Amino acid sequence: MTNQRVKILSSISYKWNNATSSLDKNCYPPSLLQDLLEKHTCYFIDMSRATEKINNFARDIENNFKKQCDAHVYVCRNPNLYHPFGIHYDLVPNIIIQCEGQTNFKVWDKIENVNNKERFGKINIEMTDEPLLDVIMNPGDMVWIPEYYPHHAISITTRLSVSFPIQIHEGSDMEDRHWFRFEG
Ligand SMILES: [Fe+2]
Repeated sequence: MTNQRVKILSSISYKWNNATSSLDKNCYPPSLLQDLLEKHTCYFIDMSRATEKINNFARDIENNFKKQCDAHVYVCRNPNLYHPFGIHYDLVPNIIIQCEGQTNFKVWDKIENVNNKERFGKINIEMTDEPLLDVIMNPGDMVWIPEYYPHHAISITTRLSVSFPIQIHEGSDMEDRHWFRFEG
């Protein structure tokens, strides 16, 4: 998988050798990727066409909002791993679906008076209020997080979840979501 898609929540950098015929020199070798997944919390971006199901769901969101939607796949193989985001908010709404394992999800009330020039959300916010929502997400559960609502996802077990950020501030160029299969 090309390294631009892989976000490893660690500051370590890696080098590897590539096969002579390899066109993408930045493509993670699968053995390294497996090792990284065991040792760090990782997520993968630009995954909205990873499977037919994800593609279909992203298409439904895009049809509803008339805005492009990505899919980020979060993988945590060890709930004790360090997670740098803490309580944070994002600048775009997200739909988060728990696929495997359990996550404790807390959501607080909207932060007002946010600087509109912010390019990214804010991480590691201190919250003293009680959360509006404090739930254990199980496989098949979904949570809607509007923009500027602080939230905190704490892995209780190993987990895999998919988050669908809706690009409300961007233009409306959509992915080609045509999905085909040759029969026979
Ligand atoms: Fe978030």
